[in-house]
Amino acid sequence: MDIKAQLLQLKEEIKKEVQGIFDEKVLNEIKVKYLGKKGLITSALKSLGSLSPEERKEVGQLANSIKEFLEETLKAKQEEIEKKKLEEILRKERLDISLPAEWFEPSASHPVLTTLKEITEIFKSMGFTVESGPEVEYEDYNFTMLNIPEHHPARDMQDTFYTSNGMLLRTHTSPVQIRSMLKKKPPFAIVAPGRVYRKDMDPTHSPMFHQIEGLMVDKNVSFKDLKGILKIFLENIFGNNIPIRFRPSYFPFTEPSAEVDVGCTVCKGKGCRVCKNTGWLEILGCGMVDPNVFKAVGIDPEEYTGFAFGLGIERIAMLRYQITDIRLLFTNDLRFNLQFRGIE
Ligand code: DAH
Repeated sequence: MDIKAQLLQLKEEIKKEVQGIFDEKVLNEIKVKYLGKKGLITSALKSLGSLSPEERKEVGQLANSIKEFLEETLKAKQEEIEKKKLEEILRKERLDISLPAEWFEPSASHPVLTTLKEITEIFKSMGFTVESGPEVEYEDYNFTMLNIPEHHPARDMQDTFYTSNGMLLRTHTSPVQIRSMLKKKPPFAIVAPGRVYRKDMDPTHSPMFHQIEGLMVDKNVSFKDLKGILKIFLENIFGNNIPIRFRPSYFPFTEPSAEVDVGCTVCKGKGCRVCKNTGWLEILGCGMVDPNVFKAVGIDPEEYTGFAFGLGIERIAMLRYQITDIRLLFTNDLRFNLQFRGIE
């Protein structure tokens, strides 16, 4: 067969071969087979040298036209494959917007979190900034620098979770007072909400619970300021006409110290089980920062004074929502949790 006939045959072969191919890899193989360095068309073009000048022109034109034909065919095929791929993707990813939506159970914000956020917001509105500290704390920050002596019962293994490396799970948020005073220069006013841990478990105690700590340090801060701030806070939480009383108390890190009670929200002061017939509910501890605490963090107690307070979030949440067992707050029973839907 002469070279012309061979080339024409090649063209027919190409047509057949390309038909029905929908795979890019196979398409590439065909390209190499005909147009590659050792490809059939390439070698045909190379062998032109052995022909007479007229033949060479004719065969050369033919070979080039086949080459063009092949290139165009491959290009068209390539486009066809890409179009098919796109169609496939569009088909698979099509959304049927007429399908009914999946039902999601509306969730509820946890009453502890709702209460914690609300309390924090009240103090923020009075200019307090929010600080935080770690839950695994140094014994020094949790006790020593807060003027809690070495043999204080709170330090006992019975009450405190100690970690194996000589640290502990903070038993209150008060160590954030120490951290803030080491970090900041007075004047400042901070609140520190967070989790605390104690070895305690009954209807009103949980081994993990939440507190919020408050601390204000400036020149001439007085007990009057403390009373004013706490009054505004308690009225925001319990309502404007809530009776409030300050009762002398003792905390190692404040002097003088007080506990604050509000009139029982359940019996309105008449006496009931919740207030143990006293008509009062104990809400928080507070006092003026003890000079020893100032000395421990390098603040001059002659120049500065301050007040501090601390309260348990769960207790407030339980009073507000009439929850009688603290453990209900931590069992993640949806029948309990979903009762608080829409409350935040
Ligand atoms: N840290 C105390 C506790 O956990 C609460 C407390 C009392 C915090 C008096 C204070 C304070 O800042 O002044 O029982």
